[in-house]
Amino acid sequence: MKTCIRILIVSSAVAVASLTAGPSAAKSRHAPLLPAYVEECGSCHIAFPGRMLDAASWIAVLEGLEQHFGVDASVDAKTLEPIRAYLAGTARSKPTTAGGVPLLRITETRWFRHEHDEVPQRLWQEPDAVKPADCAACHRSAATGSYSEHDLRLPKKGEAK
Ligand code: HEC
Ligand code: HEC
Repeated sequence: MKTCIRILIVSSAVAVASLTAGPSAAKSRHAPLLPAYVEECGSCHIAFPGRMLDAASWIAVLEGLEQHFGVDASVDAKTLEPIRAYLAGTARSKPTTAGGVPLLRITETRWFRHEHDEVPQRLWQEPDAVKPADCAACHRSAATGSYSEHDLRLPKKGEAK
């Protein structure tokens, strides 16, 4: 626990530093995405912002990269370190657990379900189905880490892949 807190403190300093440095800092609601993170974790899906899961969930995700939702997403230890620090430093403070166990999926968290309980049912179902984890299908600026209502546009009938 002690080490965990220390990591959090050190990496929030890093997050603050990048917040003042990035040109998009003023626009985004929180720290901009770390480029090294986007590179490693934004190739198969968009890079999910740190604030979507708590630190324990992120650590659990990173510890299971060899068997990551059916794919091997493992990264060498040197590449992983700044990613771990970034995620721990920008993680959600409220827990994202179920029965005390860290959730690996954002889309299974209570906050996600709550925020999305007004999404029209047709969007989660065939033939229009949008995968809940495909954030960018609705949040058009998700790739940059922005989820503001301003950039939200639900797919029209038949438009979703
Ligand atoms: C080789 C491809 C690949 C790479 C690289 C990858 N992922 Fe994934 N990731 C996936 C797949 C596939 C899923 C499951 C998507 C689905 O169910 O819709 C997923 C899902 C996730 C989810 C859960 C999304 C949700 O709420 O359902 C998280 C969190 C996640 N990845 C984090 C990461 C992080 C962090 C990294 C970088 C260390 C990373 N991923 C790199 C393929 C990848
Ligand atoms: C099918 C469309 C859809 C998908 C896919 C989707 N969202 Fe959303 N999201 C919405 C809608 C609709 C809202 C509610 C906006 C409101 O009521 O203000 C929302 C709200 C949010 C909010 C709150 C925004 C705010 O400022 O209050 C966040 C954060 C968010 N979504 C993140 C995500 C993430 C992360 C993913 C992917 C893992 C995702 N969403 C996938 C449609 C979607």
